[in-house]
Amino acid sequence: MGVVAELDEGVFAHCKRVQALALLLGETIGLTSLELNQLGLGAFLHDIGKRYIPADVLNKEAPLTPEEWELVQTHPKLGFELAETLGLGDSVKRIILEHHLWADGRGGYPRETGYTTPSFLSQITTVADVVDAMTSHRPYRQALDLATCLDYLTENAETKFNASVVAVFQSLVSQGLFGSEWPSSLQADNPSIPLGLAVGRR
Ligand SMILES: [Fe+2]
Repeated sequence: MGVVAELDEGVFAHCKRVQALALLLGETIGLTSLELNQLGLGAFLHDIGKRYIPADVLNKEAPLTPEEWELVQTHPKLGFELAETLGLGDSVKRIILEHHLWADGRGGYPRETGYTTPSFLSQITTVADVVDAMTSHRPYRQALDLATCLDYLTENAETKFNASVVAVFQSLVSQGLFGSEWPSSLQADNPSIPLGLAVGRR
């Protein structure tokens, strides 16, 4: 899909990893094949709005200025608007719009979505997004370890994150089905990877 290929290389690789983890979570939870299709597409496209954010802001090593942070926070809404022009379904569009919203609807952004809380598929994507963001190298910090990530998810379960999704992620980690080391194919830009590839599938 052209709109994804235009993304910053690091954002594109992040989208593929978020898709893989979201699908692993969704399969473990027992979503239907329709829900998994919606989740896979929405998770893959969740950051398409970042194509409108300048690369020097996305890759900035220093802390963002208030103006730059405001600009970054526009990406879910911009992505949602782009998804509308592509004719994507509501479930997919909601994932794009809601992936930075808290599960309880009381924080995150954007707050004006028309819904009280994010959809369950959005809440799964949020957990996958945070796991990948924390365990990946960022221009402004080194990758954090999985234990730190799990602590953060657990501390914020019921508020920022859906507690049952966090519990499923925890069980995947304890069973060795998810590690912080991604296959090399998902660490770098590799557009030839087919959609739906998941990590740690049984
Ligand atoms: Fe995002």
